[in-house]
Order: sequence, then C-alpha cells, then structure tokens
Amino acid sequence: MRTLKIKEKFEELFGFGGVLYTSPGRINLIGEHTDYNGGFVLPGAIDKAMYCEIKPNGTDKIKVYALDLDESSEFGLKEEDKPKESWAKYIFGVVREMTKKGKKIPGFNIVISGDVPLGAGMSSSAALESVVGYALNDQFQLGFTRQELAAIGQATEHNYVGVKCGIMDQFASCMGKEASLIRLDCRSLEYEYIPFHPKGYKLVLLNTCVTHELASSAYNKRRESCEKVVEAIAEKHPEVKHLRDANPDMLREVKDKVSAEDYLRAEFVIEEIQRLLDTCEALKKDDYDTVGKKMYETHKGLSEKYEVSCRELDFLNDKAKELGVTGSRVMGGGFGGCTINLVKEDCIDEFVKKASEDYEKEFGIQLKIYDVVIKDGAKRLD
Ligand code: GLA
Repeated sequence: MRTLKIKEKFEELFGFGGVLYTSPGRINLIGEHTDYNGGFVLPGAIDKAMYCEIKPNGTDKIKVYALDLDESSEFGLKEEDKPKESWAKYIFGVVREMTKKGKKIPGFNIVISGDVPLGAGMSSSAALESVVGYALNDQFQLGFTRQELAAIGQATEHNYVGVKCGIMDQFASCMGKEASLIRLDCRSLEYEYIPFHPKGYKLVLLNTCVTHELASSAYNKRRESCEKVVEAIAEKHPEVKHLRDANPDMLREVKDKVSAEDYLRAEFVIEEIQRLLDTCEALKKDDYDTVGKKMYETHKGLSEKYEVSCRELDFLNDKAKELGVTGSRVMGGGFGGCTINLVKEDCIDEFVKKASEDYEKEFGIQLKIYDVVIKDGAKRLD
C-alpha cells in the first residue's frame, strides 16, 4: 500500500514520528473555464489523492523526497530560496504564501507520493498544494480555514508555477465531501453540497494519455481573452467585473470591438455558466438525459469556441455518442487528459471495450480507464 511505502521511506530517511496526510484530486461534472470568470463549477473530490508524511526538523530548511520520482530537494524558507525542481515549487510556494500571510513556518522533512495521474485534468497539482497546506496548518497550528488553504494553493499556482488558474481545483481538494458534488459560486465563494447518487449510472473517466501544447500558456491566454472582453463590455456597463456579470446582449454590443477569437471564448463562457445552472435543475429532478445532453454541449463549446480540445478528445467524445453514452465531454483545462462520461451501468463494459479498441487502432495508444468515486477532501490519516 502507498501509505505504508511512504511511512517506510520516511523512517529510512528521517526517522520516526512523522504524521501522514492526504488530499484528493477532483472531477468536474460541468462548468469548465468558468471559475476564473466568476461563474459556477460543479466539482467533487475523488478517490485518487496526494499523500505526505511530515515532521518538523528544527532547522530553517525544507527537505523533501518525492517517492514516485525518486528525487529529493532541499531548500530554505526565504523568497530567494526557490528550488530548481518544478515539483518542489509547489511545496515552496505554499510555504511562501503562508509566510506572506504573517505565519512563521519552521523547517520540516517531508515525503510526498500520490496516485492522481499527472496531466490528466484531475488536478494533481492542486492535490499536492492542498495536502502540503493542510499538513502545515495542522502541524504548526496556523489557524487557516479550509477555504483559506484553497486560496493559498491557488496563489501558489499564480506566483510560483505561473498558471493563472481559478479556485475550483484547490477548493474541491480542500472542501470535498463523500458522495457529493460542490456547487460553487466562484464570485462569492458560496457553496452547496449536492448529493450525487445517479441511480443506474456511473461516471467513468477515459484518459487519452496525451498532453498537447504548453497547456499553462494556452490556459493563461484563454483567461486574457475573457478579460479583454470584460474590459470592452465594462466601458458601457461598468458593473460588469467578470463574464459572469455579462449577458448575451451585452456581448453582442461589443462584437466589433473585440477579436473574433476573443468573442467566441466569451460566448462559450456565458453559455457554460447558464448550462451549469440548467444542469443543477436537471440533477434535482434526476433527469440524467438532460444532464448528459448538457455535457455534450459543453464538449462542443470547448472544442469549437474555447478551442481547448484535441483530436484524441474529440475522437473519444464521438465514440461516446456513437455507443449511446448519456453524457461525455473533455474535463479540466483541456489540450489532452480525460473525458468524463456519464454512462448507464449496463452500457459500461461495451463502451469501455469498444472505445479502448478503437482508440488504440486510431492512435496506437492504450486508454486508461477510471471509475469515479466521490470522496472527502483533505484530512489527517494518523
Ligand atoms: C484547470 C484550472 C481550474 C479551471 C479548469 C477549467 O483545472 O486549474 O481553475 O479553470 O482548468 O475549468
């Protein structure tokens, strides 16, 4: 078991007395690229997680061992001590963001490991930020709330990783609840747990096992497009601070003032926010046909208007449709990673078999399949 291996390694490297923590990756049923536009999202924490074992070391250094990479890193606590290893920047960033909030973080030893697939749109980086944040908060009694820990993870991405992400991933990792999705308003940060027991259906993720483009720069570019459109709309409607505040009429008014590309991006976001609200209504009525229809619409929008899909993802989306899957779409930032599929239980075997065979035939790549189980957010394990 993973936790056992972490414990063994920790003892070997740093001795006894470490404490183990975990924080999960996430899925998102619908509401993509809406979080940094002040819109709604519908994520849930999953049974794939990052883990860490940690213990203060009485120095002013952080000593990290990344079990899955068999790599280590050692660095100080000051701004100029930023580590070289890209994976270590997440840990350094969390410490720095906590320090900026006036907390004194002492040196510590830490072993990290996890089973959230990297680059699959399941938020392995948010899970890492959240597990480190949660562990430090508990170990050193820093007094941050879970929501504040999520914001610290997000600030880490912005300031130490260079991805101008929204709050969805870290929020889900810190705030997740077993068998529930979180309907989060990313403008007010009000949230509601929506019990999710789709009777007769399952959520299945198909991992394309590809990542295209430098996803972080493409992601930041999408965000800039949205901001440019907000600026144009705000000239006449100063109350519009995010695309969330805009409606289709306002968007049409600026059609000649923004690029065709930026226009399409904004159109997708405004439609997607409405789609999420419609999906929540359908969920209340257990109307999974409508939920599925909305998921397909989201995929089409992400592919044609937001342009964050790719050939492999579109192929899997088409396959899902062809094989009678109720809903399917690309999940997360895009440019590769997973599709999320709402599948009738008696269709799953056939779908997974046929999609895998055809995908391998087309791309020479073996799909990875995950059943989704919705779990709790960050916690201490011992
Ligand atoms: C990534 C980001 C999130 C969100 C999604 C797209 O996962 O980290 O904040 O924007 O992409 O919905």
